[in-house]
Amino acid sequence: MARKYKEVFTDQGTDRRATGYYSTPIQVATYIYKRLTEINPLGIKVVDTCIGMEELSSPFLDYGFNVTGIDITDHVSNKRSTFIKDDFISIYELFKNPDLFNVRKLSFTDSDFWIANPPYNCHEVSYIQSNKAHLKKVFNDVGVHNMYSMFMSAMIDMAKTGAVIGLITLDSFLTSKAHKELREKILDNCIIHDILLCPTDIFLNQGADVRTCILIIQKGKLATQPLVKLLNRPSSKYEFYRKIDSLDIPEMPLSDILLNNQIDNHEFLIGVPGVIKQLFSCSRVGEKFKCITGISTGNDKKYLSKEITDQHSVPFYKNPGSKKFYCEPDGYLIDDFLEVNKVVKNFMVRNVPLLFKEGITCSSMGVEFSACYLPPNSTYGVNPNIICDEKDIWWLLSYLNSNIAKYIVRGVLIRTNMVTSGYISRLPIPDFKPHQKDTLTLLAKKAYELAQLNTIKTCVVINEINENIYEYLNIPPAVQIELNEFCKDIIKKT
Ligand SMILES: C[S@@+](CC[C@H](N)C(=O)[O-])C[C@H]1O[C@@H](n2cnc3c(N)ncnc32)[C@H](O)[C@@H]1O
Repeated sequence: MARKYKEVFTDQGTDRRATGYYSTPIQVATYIYKRLTEINPLGIKVVDTCIGMEELSSPFLDYGFNVTGIDITDHVSNKRSTFIKDDFISIYELFKNPDLFNVRKLSFTDSDFWIANPPYNCHEVSYIQSNKAHLKKVFNDVGVHNMYSMFMSAMIDMAKTGAVIGLITLDSFLTSKAHKELREKILDNCIIHDILLCPTDIFLNQGADVRTCILIIQKGKLATQPLVKLLNRPSSKYEFYRKIDSLDIPEMPLSDILLNNQIDNHEFLIGVPGVIKQLFSCSRVGEKFKCITGISTGNDKKYLSKEITDQHSVPFYKNPGSKKFYCEPDGYLIDDFLEVNKVVKNFMVRNVPLLFKEGITCSSMGVEFSACYLPPNSTYGVNPNIICDEKDIWWLLSYLNSNIAKYIVRGVLIRTNMVTSGYISRLPIPDFKPHQKDTLTLLAKKAYELAQLNTIKTCVVINEINENIYEYLNIPPAVQIELNEFCKDIIKKT
């Protein structure tokens, strides 16, 4: 999808989006300083791998630490750090090539503390695009998905054993499938001290509505991993600052926050209630049903029509968005699409044997998650679709449209990005007994009829479904409230 470009200027007049410049708030810099020096009270040397205007480094500088700052851009004149104007990724490449590295004699690699608020946004898009082939070789272990993930991986490699690494960064690495290798690298090479999800308004006054976290890790493994300080995403930065100022952060064993079943990808589950985590021992959607994507046309304008025409009569569903139970097709696909598939390179029809079968179509784009009935003889796009028999469609629709499923998809499996069939395949399905399936089937059919009439009474049935599933699964009232709050304020909480 094309990125809509919007300029957002810093105090210095440069466009933040072009440079990826978002200043670390002082409260965050102070927290990272306090935690790093608490973990290693004897540390003296610090390196900030993208120091900017020394915001994140400032508490270390105030207390007289020896700070080396690297940045591709020289942002300010009166620096307090020892400044190296260079691309940190190039420095990492030198590090990987000892002959070159020894010539350069960079003296910061024995630092006790590594800190960063790595760049992101437009800057990373153009940087990665123009250097992709080369970067793939440099980051052959974790891939080149984001600028921040490359910074994180390089810092882990370059840090000496015992060095403490403190980052404020995007948090997509916690659950995204693309970052599975990075998660494994962190787990294999580091002790994890803190994972605090930041509120979405933390960089809002600088024009960025982003999901970030504070991550504090330490290079090397101890015989026992300490308890991890964890914070679920607070609703506002004021609540967040109050919590981090007081240093009163709850702790948990690492094993309680890792999704470690064979089918999973070592996702970090922050603030996920135990009863929800237990559901992951149930069968998953993909074990019971075919959960698939369908057709990417490469040019929807050319091959899809809003109305039925002489050449377009195949109903096509691509994203129910927030519609639940019932939705109209998003358009009508060209009738000879199977012929087009044979000749047009970027027109792709996947899972041909399952075409036109009935089932469920799920939302993909946007933070909402919902599911609608997919009638027979339809086609669908790259959103997740579940092909199943009529006897399973309705109870499953009830479950997929419940708050518990929405929470698992958006609070556990994938907190960022679009929802693909891979994520929905791993959604646990509670062991519903036949009588429970019957109840959920009746409720779904009722909700479907009401949704067709577009009446708000559908919400009443959805509430009934929520209560019914909570009761059936013995979800404690406090957890019910937490899940309902999450679903009500999903944009801020996911
Ligand atoms: C999000 S800002 C962080 C600024 C400051 N350190 C802070 O914490 O507020 C990211 C910084 O990364 C720098 N940067 C971007 N690409 C870089 C690269 N390849 N190597 C080193 N620094 C880079 C930008 O110039 C910018 O100063």
